[in-house]
Amino acid sequence: MNEVMSAIRARHTDRSAYAPERPVPDEALSILLEAARWAPTAHNMQNFEILVVDDPAMLASLGSVRRNVSDVFLRENYRQLSFSEEELRRRKTGVLASTFPPSWQRPDADIISMKPDFLRDSLQGAQTLLLVLYDPEIRAPGSEGDFLGIMSLGCVMQNLWLAAQSLGISMQILSAFGAAPVQHELRPILRIPETRSVAFACRLGSPRLPTVLPLRVRRELPDFVFRNGWGDPIRLAGET
Ligand SMILES: Cc1cc2nc3c(=O)[nH]c(=O)nc-3n(C[C@H](O)[C@H](O)[C@H](O)COP(=O)(O)O)c2cc1C
Repeated sequence: MNEVMSAIRARHTDRSAYAPERPVPDEALSILLEAARWAPTAHNMQNFEILVVDDPAMLASLGSVRRNVSDVFLRENYRQLSFSEEELRRRKTGVLASTFPPSWQRPDADIISMKPDFLRDSLQGAQTLLLVLYDPEIRAPGSEGDFLGIMSLGCVMQNLWLAAQSLGISMQILSAFGAAPVQHELRPILRIPETRSVAFACRLGSPRLPTVLPLRVRRELPDFVFRNGWGDPIRLAGET
């Protein structure tokens, strides 16, 4: 396997707690930011900004913001969950329920009775947080709903993730930072202008304890790759 493929295969979500005493050093941060800088974007719009948050007092302020998990999230998240490794292997998509907090595994989401939780529960000790921002008023030329602009933000995400992987830095995407009520609370703390939205956040660091990766699955190529017409599963030369 070449280096790029190795990094792609090794990249993963690390949802474990990160060691507060081992923050991401600036030398590594500069490589991560360089990776983001060179991300491909539609029309080379470079439609993003990055807010690095690594001041402990600032992280503590963010931590006290309510996570505001919606009942829609809970219900839809539940559909992606498998409750055993056997089920996940069979489904080939989604994640193991055990990687999420118990309250997120409930099918009968009753948001009112849920105990309140806060962004500090998401940060889990991380001392480096990146917020990727964009201006929703600026869209890729002719792109309905800014589909191409949003895909570009995904390229930024992947570049960051692969760079983190190559540096041995753990990363977890935190979509919760993009939820409207959360953004509303973040704006005054981080001086985010009204013209900017949070696309996603990611926390970076080193696991506090040696991590055991949960089972991760992917579909097989013939499940989703067709050749010369939709529905004809691909068979590659050399396959039996
Ligand atoms: C757009 C996007 C948003 C995501 N949001 C979250 C999130 O809020 N919390 C989380 O733990 N993982 C999040 N993930 C990670 C996915 O759940 C994860 O990539 C997927 O389950 C595959 O696992 P892997 O990253 O270990 O390969 C997100 C991933 C993407 C691409």
